Amino acid sequence: MATNRTFTMIKPDAVGNGHMGSILNDIISAGFKIKAMKYIQLSQAQAEGFYAIHRERPFFKDLVSFMISGPIVAAILEKDNAVEDFRKLIGATDPSKAEEGTIRRKYAKSIDANAVHGSDSDENAEIEGNYFFSQFERF
Ligand code: CMP
Repeated sequence: MATNRTFTMIKPDAVGNGHMGSILNDIISAGFKIKAMKYIQLSQAQAEGFYAIHRERPFFKDLVSFMISGPIVAAILEKDNAVEDFRKLIGATDPSKAEEGTIRRKYAKSIDANAVHGSDSDENAEIEGNYFFSQFERF
């Protein structure tokens, strides 16, 4: 059954290009409530741990180097049907395939530098939120 939470990161490309505020505004305007948020730069070990599921994929090394190249925003978001609705808001992983008006279409340049992450299932939303936030850092 769908839960009402998802997890996101605003990635180093979007932060570096000055799109952090616009992306947060799009997220809030779409009806998501921020239940936890931090502005941090990941270590290599933290990025490798987060993306461990992709360890065997050919893009893993580049993905990790990119994700540690600058600060990110990590957040837990709440809304009815959060996982699915957030993935609609951000658009396809490859921004050239993302629909007009989606966050990736507006702010991303490539499949690597694709501006935002969004959990792909309720189970992963829980795991990913727990990876970044303790029970005292969310409400
Ligand atoms: P994200 O949703 O953060 O999850 C894994 C990331 O790997 C993905 O966004 C992309 O930025 C990146 N990536 C790079 N190449 C690929 C690919 N071929 N397929 C899926 N993800 C890719």
